[in-house]
Amino acid sequence: MASQAKPDPTSGAPAHGARHVAIIMDGNGRWAKKRFLPRIAGHRAGVEAVRRVARAAQDLGLECLTLYAFSSENWKRPASEVADLMGLLRHFIQSDLDEFHANGVRLRIIGNYQALDPSLVDLIEGAVARTAGNSGPIIAIALNYGAQDELVRMAQILARRVAAGEIAVEEIGIEHVDAALYTADLPPLDLMIRTSGEQRLSNFMLWQAAYAELYFTDMLWPDFDGQALAAALDAFRLRDRRFGGL
Ligand code: IPE
Ligand code: IPE
Ligand code: MG
Repeated sequence: MASQAKPDPTSGAPAHGARHVAIIMDGNGRWAKKRFLPRIAGHRAGVEAVRRVARAAQDLGLECLTLYAFSSENWKRPASEVADLMGLLRHFIQSDLDEFHANGVRLRIIGNYQALDPSLVDLIEGAVARTAGNSGPIIAIALNYGAQDELVRMAQILARRVAAGEIAVEEIGIEHVDAALYTADLPPLDLMIRTSGEQRLSNFMLWQAAYAELYFTDMLWPDFDGQALAAALDAFRLRDRRFGGL
């Protein structure tokens, strides 16, 4: 990840100063339950929120928006719900890729997406490749993502590099760890948002969140929108980030 630079006010950077926002999109099930609807209705409404928030992120000048869509622990859910979520993901890529591409968005995936259904893996890789040359904001979707898995994978990558004689154990530094994570070429994480009132990270971006500001809202994910994102960025702007200094 790049260094934690404060934005230059003369450069046209947005006033909130955030480059990279990550969202734990939680509360779809409770949103549906409140309406006596099946959980899938909450996930469908959650996809609508993704669309709204992706557009807003671009309007608000973010360089990167990372969305936690499916955790490595979400396989514990009933198979029918997992299948519904994968179906929604497939449909979302098929229906929204053109708009992302037209807006210059770069689609990225973090997490072990290769473990998903092969036809979904092909769809994902095609979508990522199609938008790779764009120069607009990055929308990174966390799929089958777990931070502990990511850190284990990082340890394996570095161990292999040591075994191959590429680096010495004593040389390993923070930048080598950064480079071996899924987020290697994403900007540093500034703000982590979680909806639905839960106040935990649920295995999301544990390393990257080291100095991120945390923002929790009781709003359920399907109710989240551009205004809610702007409110989170307003709160972020007022935070005093010291990074251990004064
Ligand atoms: C978030 O909503 C979506 C995913 C985790 C895929 P939930 O499905 O966790 O909704 P709640 O927490 O049950 O309300
Ligand atoms: C976190 O939400 C994962 C995603 C939003 C994809 P969960 O609903 O799975 O988290 P827990 O189980 O409440 O910690
Ligand atoms: Mg949940």
